[in-house]
Amino acid sequence: MAQLWGGRFTGQTDPLMDAFNASLHFDKRLWNADIIGSQAYARALAHKGILTPEERDELVQGLEKVAAEWSSKSFVVKPSDEDIHTANERRLGELVGSVAGKLHTGRSRNDQVATDMRLWLREHAARLLTYLKDLVTVSVERAERELDVVMPGYTHLQRAQPIRWSHWILSHAWSFHADADRLVQLIKRINQLPLGSGALAGNPFEVDREYLAQELGFDGIMPNSLYGVSDRDFVAEFLFWASMTMIHLSRWAEDLIIYSTAEFGFVQLADAYSTGSSLMPQKKNPDSLELIRGKSGRVFGNMSGFLMTLKGLPSTYNKDLQEDKEPLFDAVDTLSGCLQISAGVLSSFEIRPEKMKASLTMDMLATDLAEYLVRKGVCK
Ligand code: ARG
Repeated sequence: MAQLWGGRFTGQTDPLMDAFNASLHFDKRLWNADIIGSQAYARALAHKGILTPEERDELVQGLEKVAAEWSSKSFVVKPSDEDIHTANERRLGELVGSVAGKLHTGRSRNDQVATDMRLWLREHAARLLTYLKDLVTVSVERAERELDVVMPGYTHLQRAQPIRWSHWILSHAWSFHADADRLVQLIKRINQLPLGSGALAGNPFEVDREYLAQELGFDGIMPNSLYGVSDRDFVAEFLFWASMTMIHLSRWAEDLIIYSTAEFGFVQLADAYSTGSSLMPQKKNPDSLELIRGKSGRVFGNMSGFLMTLKGLPSTYNKDLQEDKEPLFDAVDTLSGCLQISAGVLSSFEIRPEKMKASLTMDMLATDLAEYLVRKGVCK
């Protein structure tokens, strides 16, 4: 089959190898990032006088048509489309003719894919940030509304001291707030431009990278081309962020699972986030919370798996790096679901203040009593 890079090859690739090598079935999610990156690159080539304004416009408009096909789900994939970059370029060629080939002047799929990944992730990270902020807002609203409800506070899961229920809610909200802070910082590190690094050794046409960064809304430029094409720290860091956030969601979910048992009875989940049992009609299972707790495992797996992929890679681009996509996409999808469901669960369950109160026993005031006596100077 005719690949973009097929010129040097005489033999046919094994069809199994074609399928093994292909990434379009998962990296097609990058279609929009790829189009935006290519349009900016066409403008940058024209800015440098390498393309005429007419050629630039042909390319930009052609890419717009390719984008329209993706968004209307009418893009027809060909067997020779190895990945999203080759698919878009092949289709562009069909739409605008030979000028399409000029888009690759000085650009490699290596700096292209690194750029696409950053464009894609910065958009989805910003979306996840809004879900996280929603969760903090829902927590704060609920804490305000139920400010004076008192419950037992636990250490070692043993009753320790009385606390406000709102104190418990906000303890988790502070973790989510810290996750939001970390994500804001991470988005700045994601938002660095690799384009212009070429395959590894830089751009022979001295394309204006400041111009490219401005066109694409990047905060800075990756200063070393070898680093630009090979760095995937932003993916690893995102997967760590996702894992940490899942740990917080999972611990929060675990508390609520315990509080919703008949033994505690502090909380009753809304029907919208529970399931019943056909066999045992008394049951209301906290499936939403259990799934959140369970899905944390897959996110940690994505992180540790990808760190192992990076370990021991020689300098610059290696095809191993194509393995960055599936764990990243899966983590983004998982976080997206878990954060939205968590806000739904938190805004809809009912609490049983009388059950919380009934769990408060006099011995829980022993510490307060001792402190009272110290304050009165009775004992030291
Ligand atoms: N599909 C590839 C990836 O995701 C694109 C880069 C391919 N570059 C190369 N030199 N084969 O990593």
